[in-house]
Amino acid sequence: MNLLTLDGLERDAMTGLLDQADEFLDVLDRPIPKVPTLRGKTVAMLFFEPSTRTKLSFDRAARALSADTMAFSPTGSSLSKGESLKDTALTLLAMGPHALVVRHRSTGAPWRIAEWTGVPTVNAGDGAHQHPTQGLLDALTIRQRFGTLDGLRIGIVGDLRHSRVARSDVAAFTTLGADVTLIGPRTMQPPFIDDWQVSVSEDLDALLGDLDVVYLLRIQTERGAGAVFPSVAEYVRRYGMTVERADRLGPDAVVMHPGPMNRGVEIDPSVADGERSLITTQVRNGVAVRMAVLFHLLGGDQ
Ligand code: CP
Repeated sequence: MNLLTLDGLERDAMTGLLDQADEFLDVLDRPIPKVPTLRGKTVAMLFFEPSTRTKLSFDRAARALSADTMAFSPTGSSLSKGESLKDTALTLLAMGPHALVVRHRSTGAPWRIAEWTGVPTVNAGDGAHQHPTQGLLDALTIRQRFGTLDGLRIGIVGDLRHSRVARSDVAAFTTLGADVTLIGPRTMQPPFIDDWQVSVSEDLDALLGDLDVVYLLRIQTERGAGAVFPSVAEYVRRYGMTVERADRLGPDAVVMHPGPMNRGVEIDPSVADGERSLITTQVRNGVAVRMAVLFHLLGGDQ
């Protein structure tokens, strides 16, 4: 079994993973935050693209379940000598991992690796396509705050075109009953959203007071986002979560961001660190969600 996308994941399955993550949050609160569930299993991390949160979080999750971990990093690996992705994956396979966690700049790379190896594989972010555990941890964070996603009004703001987080969040939030609006300049809207149950708007200011959750996306300059808006100042003027905009949100509204943030661009530093921000809660919940996913994939016996 793999977790490669949230598209098509049924509501019951998604809710089951979130419920399991809630239980693992209790484990993480214990004086010794560890259970023996996956003792004897090895989880290999194949991160072909940089990561802070996701990589450390999967590592922490695997260890909290008593699994061993192996980490691959492209820097200093034999990729620099011309070894192919397939040979790299098969080399890892020969060392006997029980699960793979794969991040790659190319859409579909985790699928190929799952096919080549036959080992349960989690997509930890592939190109601009999907980041399933980010979608789940975001859904968990919202459910924790509001009790449910049913009927919540969630605005996902900014660089939608290049965002794998947006794709996984749309799948998670709409499956769990939220009313999602994609907000950003036309040049940053994703090209294919006909099948998505979402609304689209270019006007953040017109919607601010109606949103329960404002989810800010990182501008992905490494994927060419800088070319689709005139200047950073113009972006901030129309879409930045400034202090003034945060003040116009409803009293219970919250602000989220997947990280890493461009402080002062997508979000003002004082909003990122302020009372409305759930950003560090997202990171904490990420460990529990990844524990739930590894537990599910590796068929723990507890
Ligand atoms: N949100 C996220 O995927 O962050 P990293 O790139 O640091 O893993």
